[in-house]
Amino acid sequence: NSCTTEDRREMQLMWGKVWSAQFTGRRVSIAQAVFKDLFHNVPAAVGLFDRVDGSDVNSNKFKAHCIRVVNGLDSAIGLLSDPSTLNEQLAHLATQHKERTGVTKSGFAAIAQSFLRVMPQVASCFNPDAWSRCFNRITDGMTEG
Ligand code: HEM
Repeated sequence: NSCTTEDRREMQLMWGKVWSAQFTGRRVSIAQAVFKDLFHNVPAAVGLFDRVDGSDVNSNKFKAHCIRVVNGLDSAIGLLSDPSTLNEQLAHLATQHKERTGVTKSGFAAIAQSFLRVMPQVASCFNPDAWSRCFNRITDGMTEG
């Protein structure tokens, strides 16, 4: 159940189609859709995002947070082909998340589910198995230690 070379190429293709879409606005709205889904399923998570106006996902503050998250995911997906650098990048993201109390493994499982619901709506030829294996590879690296 690991993120194989084939999985990784598929994930990069699925993501690339979303990413190369002309407008940054699309990336923001994909992340907003993911967070709306997450907050709907785990209302208690909203409070973690007070500093970035989590109670108003349409606020400019929250949209700026969204683009930071999506950029973080983009660099991780790109680095799947370079595992040693990926591990450093994920360790860095792990530190950033550890500093915020309340961000747990179950939170990562919940966001994985939210991506799985949003991505098929925005990516063509979405392969949920390859996506999930590589998404787990990324979030495992963010929650270890
Ligand atoms: C902040 C990425 C999952 C909670 C951030 C930042 C990035 C990021 C890049 C900004 C760090 C900074 O500039 O200080 C990601 C990625 C995720 C993920 C790539 C999964 C693939 C989660 C999950 C939670 C979470 C599951 C909790 C349920 C937070 C919080 C902040 C944050 C509370 C700080 C917001 C603030 O006050 O600035 N995340 N994140 N993240 N993330 Fe995540």
